[in-house]
Amino acid sequence: MTEYVLVTGGAGYIGSHTVVELANGGYHTIVVDNLCNSSEESIRRVEELTSTKVPFIKLDLRDQEALDKVFTDYNIKSVIHFAGLKAVGESTKIPLEYYDCNVTGAVNLLKVMQAHKVPNFVFSSSATVYGDATKYENMIPIPEECPTGPMSPYGRTKLFIEDIIRDAASADPNLKAAILRYFNPIGAHPSGRIGEDPLGIPNNLLPFIAQVAVGRREKLQVFGNDYEGSPDGTPIRDYIHVVDLAKGHLAALSKLDSIKTDGIQGFVREWNLGSGKGSTVFDIIHAFERATGKTIPYDVVARRNGDVLDLTAKPTRANIELKWEVQLSVEQACRDLWNWTTKNPLGYGHEH
Ligand code: NAD
Ligand code: WQD
Repeated sequence: MTEYVLVTGGAGYIGSHTVVELANGGYHTIVVDNLCNSSEESIRRVEELTSTKVPFIKLDLRDQEALDKVFTDYNIKSVIHFAGLKAVGESTKIPLEYYDCNVTGAVNLLKVMQAHKVPNFVFSSSATVYGDATKYENMIPIPEECPTGPMSPYGRTKLFIEDIIRDAASADPNLKAAILRYFNPIGAHPSGRIGEDPLGIPNNLLPFIAQVAVGRREKLQVFGNDYEGSPDGTPIRDYIHVVDLAKGHLAALSKLDSIKTDGIQGFVREWNLGSGKGSTVFDIIHAFERATGKTIPYDVVARRNGDVLDLTAKPTRANIELKWEVQLSVEQACRDLWNWTTKNPLGYGHEH
């Protein structure tokens, strides 16, 4: 019987790139997604890129009955869980929707997995669980041992889900979970067929820059250049190519497969997925300009609420234990983002 990897949120940005890598790695995948922030067109393109069939079921993870049916219909061995809401600012406006969607969705999924005895779980966590690591000594670059302290409802949903997974694994010897804390994913598939397609005004730096370069927005606003401790005053982030990030999920799946639990408790471990190299906002603007030959007009404006000085990963644990490391540069990510943007100036073509 064919064994499947279930990818929740697989129509989205990181999910669609991960489905491509899974297909290239010989895995059979199924995608579930409610399409609240994506379009089914991404799955169609993934199928075309990989010459494989990817069964797609439109459902919301809060619909436990619909989810249970997927586990009855397919022989699922592993779950990669991307589905959720992810906008920090929005989460401060509609926190209850974030808790419901993210936390209830994850609890339902874990319950259904347990009912069907599915062992492997890979969870999309975020570096945002660390909050401001600069307040601790010697925690930049950030190791997994850094104390957590998320600063938004969104970030707290991620940390709560991590805690729920840790509790579930201590009670269930069948559960093996990888908690992957992503730093800043950027770029697109080098084919230019799939990429990030934010609805409305982009929150994130690179999609905004790309929309300025393609003429959809006039100027970039740089949120503050008065951060002490940054070489040019703008915040430092660890930007990582989405294809490298996608490959991290295959590395985590292999790791989980190699783990034998003691029959009393399950297994759970956190891994940072980052490059270990920090870039400022101006570094990114310049990298994009070098990679594309475009000039990005910008204004420096006030700091954005909730931004911190430095989120740079210490990725050693993933390098050693998952045998995974970043292979692609920020410049390559900018080139691939530009290729995707020029080929799809309106993303997948839905209303913006
Ligand atoms: P995305 O919005 O492109 O993908 C998330 C997908 O989940 C979307 O296709 C959306 O339609 C779907 N979804 C949302 N709620 C759902 C629900 N209740 N039921 C079913 N489907 C639902 O976002 P992304 O950037 O690909 O992020 C994927 C995951 O990675 C998220 O969990 C996010 O929190 C996490 N993450 C993202 C980043 C980032 O910067 N992009 C960084 C760290 C962590
Ligand atoms: C990067 C830098 C901004 C836009 C967010 C989430 C985090 C994770 C990744 C999900 C910052 C600056 C940005 C703009 C700017 N997502 N900037 N002008 O804030 O590091 O991380 O996405 O888990 O949780 O918080 O990413 O791309 O928004 O910002 O100057 O128009 O670019 O101030 O320094 P961030 P970002």
